[in-house]
Amino acid sequence: MTASHTERITAVQDDITTQRVDAIVNAANTSLMGGGGVDGAIHRAAGPGLLAECRTLGGCPTGEARITKGYDLPATWVIHTAGPIWHGGTHGENELLARCYRSCFALAARHAVRTIAFPAISTGIYGFPLERATRIAVTETTRFLADDTEIEEVRFVCFGMETYRVYQAIVTGSA
Ligand code: APR
Repeated sequence: MTASHTERITAVQDDITTQRVDAIVNAANTSLMGGGGVDGAIHRAAGPGLLAECRTLGGCPTGEARITKGYDLPATWVIHTAGPIWHGGTHGENELLARCYRSCFALAARHAVRTIAFPAISTGIYGFPLERATRIAVTETTRFLADDTEIEEVRFVCFGMETYRVYQAIVTGSA
């Protein structure tokens, strides 16, 4: 009996590079050539093989996702997605962020991913308001899991306390 979709969603305060899951998601940029934030942390932890494979991908348009191996990470796969940069909310940012999650789930499904960890995409350097981004993340995840029986866990890995507080409140439905 597959757990209900809400039971398969968790939020933790931790470092995504240490997660022992099938796939971790990288909040990348469209070049896929690495960067700061979680992108930098994932590349540092994965080692040079990750960048070498990313070089072969030709970038990733905002809202889309690309998959690579995980190299020195505990995760088997890294799913790279380019989130939208926040420009005030009138440039399609909400839909582009929602597409990031849908694109990641589509790739996860094609690679028999059972457990997947997401960072808070676009809420750091890209400036997307945290609560709004969290609602989009949880809404898209709930929608995907409602029709999916393959994924066992979607883990939102929050680096900071504030991010964890917002995710916990929205995942538990108390906000
Ligand atoms: N584990 C989990 N989450 C992390 C980690 C980590 N090791 N390091 C940072 N984060 C969190 C940030 O605290 C933030 O909550 O990831 C979230 C996303 O922040 P950013 O990494 O700044 O990503 P984003 O806002 O999507 O901006 C993407 O930043 O690093 C560059 O190359 C990247 O240009 C791209 C841009």
